[in-house]
Amino acid sequence: MSNALSNQAPLNPGTQRSRLDPEPVSRRDTLGLAALWSAASAMLFSVFGMLRLPKAAVLASPSKKFKAVLPENLAAGEAFTPPGRAVAIFRDKEGVHALSTICTHLGCIIKPSAEGFECPCHGSRFHLDGTVAKGPAPKSLPWLKVTQAGGQWIIDEGATVPPGTKVSA
Ligand code: FES
Repeated sequence: MSNALSNQAPLNPGTQRSRLDPEPVSRRDTLGLAALWSAASAMLFSVFGMLRLPKAAVLASPSKKFKAVLPENLAAGEAFTPPGRAVAIFRDKEGVHALSTICTHLGCIIKPSAEGFECPCHGSRFHLDGTVAKGPAPKSLPWLKVTQAGGQWIIDEGATVPPGTKVSA
């Protein structure tokens, strides 16, 4: 009797599979594979993220010395800040001098203001000569070493000079 049933034509001939067809993947297996790929991708991204950790976020400058060309129309008492440098350069009739624009409180970059400089972080103010006008900055801005070579000014952010030191042209 069972042989007679198996020899009958299938009820739905379009759904009959050949033995050579690949096994159909169930929904459970598909979701399992998707979860596995998601976990593997997350692990891969986290490994890439961890590889980046030991590197410094900011690379050290190869040199603290840089050349600066002062604008022709730079007025006395007006600060010139070269792009990318935390330095304010001044020129007056006595010569050229440079001040660091790194706040002596916690290291924010100060901005020029009407009376001198102002720190955007905690409100310290500095006179144009770098002395503190208002705290919490504990000390004056350092004066930086300035030299002249071939018509250009060379500022050394790594070397300080006594306040009031100016280099004449
Ligand atoms: S960092 Fe400038 S006042 Fe605090």
